[in-house]
Formats: sequence, C-alpha cells, structure tokens
Amino acid sequence: MCGIVAYVGYKKAHPILIKGLQRLEYRGYDSAGISVLNGKISTFKTKGKVAELENYIKSKDLDGQAGIAHTRWATHGEPNQVNAHPHFSQSKSISIIHNGIIENYAVLKEELVSRGYVFESDTDTEVLVNLIEDIRINEKVLLDEAVRIALCQVVGAYAIVILSDEHPNTLIAARKGSPLVIGIGDDDYYIASDATPIVEYTKNVVYLEDEEIAVLTRGEELKIRTTKNKEKTPYVQQLEWNLSELEKGGYDHFMMKEIYEQPRSIRDSMRGRLNPVTGNVSLGGIIDYEQKLLTAKRIIIIACGTSWHAGLVGEYLFEDIARIPVEVEYASEFRYRNPIITEEDVVIAISQSGETADTLAAIELAKQKGATIIGICNVVGSSIARATHAGSYTHAGPEIGVASTKAFTAQVTVLTLMALRLAQLNGAIPKTRFMQLLHELDSLPEKVEEVLNTNGLTEHIAKKYKDVNNFLYLGRGYNFPVALEGALKLKEISYIHAEGYPAAEMKHGPIALIDENMPVVFIAPQLGIYEKVVSNIQEVKARKGNVIAIVTEGDTIVRNMADYVIEIPKTEEYLVPILASIPLQKLAYHIAVLRNCNVDMPRNLAKSVTVE
Ligand code: G6P
Repeated sequence: MCGIVAYVGYKKAHPILIKGLQRLEYRGYDSAGISVLNGKISTFKTKGKVAELENYIKSKDLDGQAGIAHTRWATHGEPNQVNAHPHFSQSKSISIIHNGIIENYAVLKEELVSRGYVFESDTDTEVLVNLIEDIRINEKVLLDEAVRIALCQVVGAYAIVILSDEHPNTLIAARKGSPLVIGIGDDDYYIASDATPIVEYTKNVVYLEDEEIAVLTRGEELKIRTTKNKEKTPYVQQLEWNLSELEKGGYDHFMMKEIYEQPRSIRDSMRGRLNPVTGNVSLGGIIDYEQKLLTAKRIIIIACGTSWHAGLVGEYLFEDIARIPVEVEYASEFRYRNPIITEEDVVIAISQSGETADTLAAIELAKQKGATIIGICNVVGSSIARATHAGSYTHAGPEIGVASTKAFTAQVTVLTLMALRLAQLNGAIPKTRFMQLLHELDSLPEKVEEVLNTNGLTEHIAKKYKDVNNFLYLGRGYNFPVALEGALKLKEISYIHAEGYPAAEMKHGPIALIDENMPVVFIAPQLGIYEKVVSNIQEVKARKGNVIAIVTEGDTIVRNMADYVIEIPKTEEYLVPILASIPLQKLAYHIAVLRNCNVDMPRNLAKSVTVE
C-alpha cells in the first residue's frame, strides 16, 4: 500500500526519491508525488504510475538536497492528482507525506475550517498538516514540537515525514501503527516505509517505534523523542538484505525470479535449525516458549491471504506430527468476533510483510486477553515481529511480486520445523520415524529444484487454458490448503475466477459447474487417501471436465485418466504442500503472462495491506 521515501543530505534529492518510489511500486498504489526543497518547496503529483510522475517532472526545476515522495493507495478520496501526496499546509510552508488513516480527521477538519482553513483535497493528510501549522503559529512553538502536540490529538495510524522551508536541512518523521525505517548515511539520512529504497545507500538503519518522532538534520546526530516528550537513544541495526535481491536478475518478472529462488529460500529457512545427523531441530527465537507451546490448551493460527493458507497447512502439521490441537482463523474475522481466548492459548501470527493491519489488530486483542503470541514473519523488524512475544523469521529474503510464492513455502517450512521440534519434545512420534521425517525435510531443496525443472510443461498447459473463465482446484488433507493457494495465485494475477475446494466437497456444489470447458486441477499424490481422490477425478472425467493433476512421479493410474499430469518427486505426505504448490505457482504465472496481465503488480492488489 502507500509508500514513503525521503532524503536529506548533500546529494541531489530527487533522483534518490524517484528511484525509491520505483522500489516501492511493488506495494501497490494509484498515484505518486514528490516535494523538493530549494528555497521554497516545489511539489509535483500525478495519477497513475511512477513512470508518469518521472515524465511529468522531466522539464521541471527539481534542484534541492532535501525532499519527500510518496505512492498513494487511495483510502480517503478517489485516486487523482489533488488527493495524491505530498500535501501542503495552507501557507505552503510545510509539506507532508503520510501512510495510515487519521480516524478523527472529520472533527479536526471542522475545527480548522471554522478557523478559516480551506482544503484542496479530500484527504485526512491535509487535515494533519494544517493542524500542525495551526499549532505552530498559535502556540508559537518550533515545528517538531508542533508535530508532537498535533500527534497527541490524532486518533488512528500514521507514518509521516515533514519537509518545511523554515528548516531546509531537516526532516521530521513520526510513526504509530505504520512502519518507518531510517537509513543512516555518512552525513545524510534516508527514510522509507520499508527498507527497499534504502539498501543501496546504507545498511545502518533505525526502525522507528510507535509514537516516536525523529528529527533528522544533515550532518547532525539523529534525535528521537516520544509523543510524551521522552528522549530515546536510537537503536541502530544492520540490514541483512542485498541489492541483488531487489533486482529481477535476468528474469522477466520478480514473481518468476522468486519462484526459482525457492530451493535457496527454503534452505535459508532451515539453515542452522535442522541437523539430520544428530536429529536436532531448534528454532532459537522460540526456545523460551517451547514449554508454553507444548502445554497450550490449543494453538490458534491467525493470518490473512496466502499466509492463512500456510496456517492451514500448519494445522495439519501440528495436529498430525505433534498432536497439539490447532485452530486457524482469518485475522480479520478473529478480531471482531469476540473470540474466547485464555492465558493457556498460544497464538501463532503468520505474515510475510509483518505489517498486515488485521493481523496486527488480532495480535493486540489476543495479547490483551493474556495469550502468548508467536510470530512467523519474513520482514525483520516489522510491526508484527515486534508486537509478538517471540518468533521465527522465515529468511526468504525480500519478496517483491505481489503474489506470494517463496514466502509461502518458507512459512510452511518454518511451521514444519516447529511441528517437528514439538514432536521431538513431547515424543508424539517414535524416534526412528522422527529421524526419517528430518532426513526428508533436509532433502527438500533438491526436490524443489527437480519440480522447477518441468521443461515447459506448465507453459504448454497454460497455453491450452489461458482463455477459460473458471478453474477449480481440488485436494484433500494436507493438499486442501494447496488447492486454495493454487486458486488464489491464479485469480490474483490472471483475473480468472478460480476456486479451491476439498475434493470430496465437490459433490456438494462445484460438480454442477463441470462441463467440457471446465479445467479442474487435482493435487493427487500417491499418499494418504489417494484412492478417494482418484474417484473424484473419475467423477470429473465422467462429466467431461478437463483434468490437470499433480501426481507422484511414476503414477500411471492418474496419468491414464487426466488430460495433463505434472509429476513431483516421491516424498513424505507432510512435505507435499511445498512441492505441489510450485507447479501451481508456475501455471498461474504462465497463464497471467499469456493474458498480458501485470504479473508483479496485479490490479487492485497491494503487497502489504496496512488498512483493514
Ligand atoms: C496481501 C498480499 C498477499 C498476502 C496477504 C497477507 O493480500 O497481496 O500476498 O498473502 O496480503 O500478507 P502478509 O504480509 O500478512 O503475509
């Protein structure tokens, strides 16, 4: 969703800002804008893509060594040039960019209107910048103090950066509920809503905490205080990401690059956590909470989107391998349904970005009720990673494609490690079986590599079905969540309607849809209740449906029935979700490319959903 970039220092600001906006494009947005300070503040905004903004400012004077820039995903007011950020205060002396929502903006606006303020846009952001200006003038305080006083009056979430012509070498930034990262250069500062625009300039970063205000003056030390006026010492951390992880590296799209990174990302998720020789599994981040997990009355997994699908796989893993009861909930439902939560519950929150608003709110609710919260996040230092009591990072590296791929398989890998660790501790499975499972998990990256090598088969299947209007995905047991995830991938990026179902549920509705135009994807490995899935395939074929089946290599039974089969290597049942989801990612990708869809930035979607 909305993206923030800002710079103050001795370099030309605008190339840094535009490049930063490009790096943030993956988050999803519908307009963009930039303010640069050179004596006075010049602001330029456009509806649409950053490329359009770049075009628009080509002939403009954008000299200046301080500036702020923004990509906006509309919440208050339609996506147009007027509502795009940055927004000016009435005197045009202060310019602001803002992520989040000011919930009491209507009341604040009314007061300001009664004092003569006139508003150009429909945004809550313009209200905030005028509130700051009003306080600065009437209370005769310095700008950072005016910001502090204003933020004390604000209800809602914000990450803001402020540029003012009265302080040409300074930016003021603040956050509550919306992330902000400050990059510390030699004598300059970078600010962004995530680390992607900063990585190429510095690895030294400070993650601003909620209700903190930072004053960044070039050549001077970073100053941070809270909205309650308490000084804080900045905690400088090292970024682990590399620039190459933010580039396409020869692939046409980030999504394909990320699909092909999975042998590496899965290996990284397991690194140092699994030793198949000694039989040891350990997740450093949750060591102190293992007993809590083992004695939990139940584990509740909360997440959204693809992460929720990973959670569903987690339910099968924890119950099957570690015999611990699990419930999986959409964070957005959990937070509003007055759930029964006690101190004996452990909540596992799964999130790639670590910023999803519903997941964060669900965590806060569970925390208030006394539950222990464990996080599984990809982005280090993210809001969810910090809101949880403990957790394990997935270490998949930055995921830029909006449709999640490597983050999903990394989440399932971490959940698998957790389930195995708990089984090791509570003896839910015999030692020899445990060792077999561990060996199999250790060999997973090689098997993922084999799966990726489908020699154009998924592309061939994509060509055949690229023009259909509907797809059905069916699987059972561990593969029911895979069916859901396969369908989600297709609808996200190709805009084809797709549904995932437990295969046996087909008879309770979806079977009515099947005719000669309906492709049905089955996840049908020769494991578990394979014969039952074979019966479901027969039922589809009997109604002239088209069957694309993910099967275990060497399977001849399904091969004789299906229109297409995609083989995956033999493995344990509990690892099939990871292997089977990869051809489904590729199938969705190829269909989307053939339909000329914007694979990495599908319409209306955002990579990190920071509003509910
Ligand atoms: C958005 C993204 C999805 C993601 C979901 C949850 O909808 O487009 O890819 O699965 O948010 O995000 P999270 O960062 O919490 O995993």
